[in-house]
Amino acid sequence: MPVLEEKSFHMTPDEFRRYGHAVVDWIADYHSRIESFPVLSQVKPGEIRAALPAHPPAEGEPFEALLQDVQRIILPGVTHWQSPNFFAYFPCNASGPGILGDLLSSGLGVQGMLWSTSPACTELETHIMDWLVEMLGLPEKFRSSNTGGGVIQDTASSSTLCALLAARERATNYFSNKKGCDGKLVAYASTQTHSSLEKAAMIAGIGVENLRLIEVDGNFAMKPEVLAQQIDADRHAGLTPFFVCATVGTTSSTAMDPIAALGEVCRKHNLWLHVDAAMSGTAMLCPEFRHLQNGVELADSYTFNPHKWMFTNFDCNCFWVADRKALIQTLSILPEYLRNQATESGAVIDYRDWHIQLGRRFRSLKLWFVIRHYGVEGLQHHIREHVRLAQQFADWVRNDDRFELAAPAPLNLVCFRHNSGDAANQTIMDRVNRSGDLYLTHTKLNGKLTLRLCVGQTNTQARHVEKAWNRIREEAARV
Ligand SMILES: Cc1ncc(COP(=O)(O)O)c(C=O)c1O
Repeated sequence: MPVLEEKSFHMTPDEFRRYGHAVVDWIADYHSRIESFPVLSQVKPGEIRAALPAHPPAEGEPFEALLQDVQRIILPGVTHWQSPNFFAYFPCNASGPGILGDLLSSGLGVQGMLWSTSPACTELETHIMDWLVEMLGLPEKFRSSNTGGGVIQDTASSSTLCALLAARERATNYFSNKKGCDGKLVAYASTQTHSSLEKAAMIAGIGVENLRLIEVDGNFAMKPEVLAQQIDADRHAGLTPFFVCATVGTTSSTAMDPIAALGEVCRKHNLWLHVDAAMSGTAMLCPEFRHLQNGVELADSYTFNPHKWMFTNFDCNCFWVADRKALIQTLSILPEYLRNQATESGAVIDYRDWHIQLGRRFRSLKLWFVIRHYGVEGLQHHIREHVRLAQQFADWVRNDDRFELAAPAPLNLVCFRHNSGDAANQTIMDRVNRSGDLYLTHTKLNGKLTLRLCVGQTNTQARHVEKAWNRIREEAARV
């Protein structure tokens, strides 16, 4: 009797190899011709959907057809974050080793919720997070061999939420997890803090009215004396101050909150100090920038995004705590179906207890690949180069009477404006963005529309920043 093959629709290993090579070739070609695309996608709302079939395919299609549609339908609707002419928001840069590490993570298809569901997924992560403590000059207490430890999360928003939850539980002796919040807990941050904290306050049951946004100084940094006064006032009112979020590099203008002074206030009042260094944390690879976060040893938790500026493609956020017990006690729930010997032995880390979701990807692979490919030296070189280019741009702005700097530029973000007012700045930005030559975004500082140019894409070089400045000046001459 001939053996009948079981019916299968799966891609065979040989097909996977062939199409895999085609996809890698496609990505390499895309990156080599990326400067030929308009940086900001030029499609109109609904245009991409209109090009897609109304109904899903009843039968499978050849892989070649998929790649053709990526080219024909998807590419026009892509804003090219990996273009060296991308200067908008904060970067979300990527690199060859990062992309390949991510591909390998997909290839292994591991779900690392427990140590036992893939020991390498947990142990590589713990190890890389300890390496990063050394690479960024972070306090020793954040190491897993000490009282703390680090975990890779999806985003800074998730990490900040976890910090807020752990702080809430520490402040209420783990009572809020049982009974809910009593409406008396109060958290503090500056008026410039990222909106993810407000969202975290909603989710954590603190309530946005119990989040105090503290006044900033002329450099957009939180005023520690105003924080101290507000804490006193809240205490007198019978409330329970418990958490401060300080930012190293605010989203609007890379303002640096004074961590040492804020840390002293937190120590005095026994408040949890969380440091959000989402983009600027990467600069700490270079010892000469670490003074920007003096006092970080006073932090209870710290977060930064390698997926912003450290050549590690989205998503990859690093989060450390000084006392891992507080975090684990806050987030740990152990249902019967997850029990196993390794967990019972107490000898392993189960990262499911370190964040909101249960399942987790093998994200440390891409970070490991990036760190090993570049080495500390290579990473430092490119970060210093980005900062140098941004400082050069700031000098050009300073030396042109039509423009002014709108905030200090300590690292790779320059906030500037044309002196003819908001409408002129809006026009300049809209025109350069519409041209597709580069992509810039804006903020408001002291009530005025301000242009932001952030240098951080992997392949941005001097010629790209020069072209950006020339294009901005050309449009300025027309307004
Ligand atoms: C200072 C700061 N914190 C938090 C975030 C949020 O980052 P994520 O998208 O990783 O949640 C950002 C994003 O730009 C940021 O600049």
